[in-house]
Amino acid sequence: MTSTPENVEHNRLDNHVIMLFGATGDLARRKILPGLYHLAVEGLMPEKYRIIGSSPTAVAMSTESFRTYVRDAVTAFGPHKPTGEAWKSFSQSLVFAVADADKDEGFAEVVADAEAQIGGSVRRLIHLAVPPDAVLSLVQMIRNYGLNVNARVICEKPFGVDLASAKALNRALLACFDENSIFRIDHFLGKESIDNILAFRFANRLFEPLWNRDHVSFVQIDVPEKLSVEGRGAFYEKTGAFRDMVVTHLLQVLGYLAMEQPTSLNAKPLRDEVSKVFEALKPIDPALVVRGQYAGYRRERGVAHDSQVETFVALRVAVENTRWKGVPFYLRTGKCLEQSRQVITIGFHEPVMRLFPRSEGSSSWRGNKIVVDFEDPGTIRIEFLAKTPGTTMQLGPAEMTFEYDESFQSTHNLEAYEHLIYEAMLGNRALFTRSDGIERLWEIAAPLLENPRPVEFYKKGSWGPSSINEVVGHHGWCLP
Ligand code: BG6
Repeated sequence: MTSTPENVEHNRLDNHVIMLFGATGDLARRKILPGLYHLAVEGLMPEKYRIIGSSPTAVAMSTESFRTYVRDAVTAFGPHKPTGEAWKSFSQSLVFAVADADKDEGFAEVVADAEAQIGGSVRRLIHLAVPPDAVLSLVQMIRNYGLNVNARVICEKPFGVDLASAKALNRALLACFDENSIFRIDHFLGKESIDNILAFRFANRLFEPLWNRDHVSFVQIDVPEKLSVEGRGAFYEKTGAFRDMVVTHLLQVLGYLAMEQPTSLNAKPLRDEVSKVFEALKPIDPALVVRGQYAGYRRERGVAHDSQVETFVALRVAVENTRWKGVPFYLRTGKCLEQSRQVITIGFHEPVMRLFPRSEGSSSWRGNKIVVDFEDPGTIRIEFLAKTPGTTMQLGPAEMTFEYDESFQSTHNLEAYEHLIYEAMLGNRALFTRSDGIERLWEIAAPLLENPRPVEFYKKGSWGPSSINEVVGHHGWCLP
């Protein structure tokens, strides 16, 4: 599935021209540009490459200013400082060119120049780091300039804003690229701890036999964030927490948790199994969804004074198949909450026969849990009950923990984005989402998108509106 950096010698990358659309945007500044530099420092970029940063005329800059802009971004967000030979050679690969869908600004010539400088056969990687409403015109422009030849394209999430727009986007991309060249990115699938779910489940006889409705009583995927919309008010107004996080990241994680074992880790069998989970998801019932908005959101720049956009969402979904029928999957995420965490909790049923009395004050069984903390570097904790020392048979909570960074020495520590860009350069689509899966997710989301309940307000620094307890019922939220 993944090509570990250690295999790099076996996976020699083609020489590349990388076209980064949306180069002056937040995502490029925080993740993509520092990520490309990190790959370069680790020796994981092609032998020869050029990176063409691009944006519309309104935010155009010279190549020199672009290099300074990238240096500042790397300084602020990258793991390695931009210095020495590594920076010098990376910086020389950077070029800026305006790409305007309405006006020919000579973008194709800049690409041709970059390819001529590299010489020989050059692969193109097009990264569309732009909001959903800007993608269609860019794809049209790429096609008009013939830049889709010998090219792969990375598309950012959210992939569309509903079923109709996702379908339109898929049609437009397929008119320009073949499916093998389309890489729909969801950076949660590039996180070590998420990929490790496959190893944890399918490489260990210890856990997989328990991974079903007979033993699991609930699953929670909880991604609270302390961050606000961080100046992205205008973007958030078009997306909201559900589109930004749930229909993308959280449901993709659910796909890995709920899937059957694929026949191999190659792109097709792996993604076939994820798609089957999405097929089995029941349409979302708006009555099982709480939408929240933090107090003060309406005063953020770019936000309507009466906005009904949610900055928080908690919901219950169901996978209707033999393995999962009856097991609730609880999802929660939101901005301006008390903690930033990325946690999956698998809660297990009580033993069939109760031999030990419940501890005083506990009305429900809180015994066995597998808790995956997937924020890098990540941990897995097994919570169980043990006999407390003494002459009576009393139970107390106990745990065993696996800590990624203590157990393994990583050579490169690639961040999710870096890992996925590297996979895209190799042409490996296993960790990218697929059009049928995405369209199905929009399909099950339709009842909520068409009929959302009004947002409920919550205080900054809280855990969201209090009505979220209705969503989770007797299981209770495992965080905080
Ligand atoms: C992004 C969302 O896709 O994921 C952000 O747009 C969110 O709103 C981010 O904060 C969380 O991911 P991570 O892995 O960077 O914490």
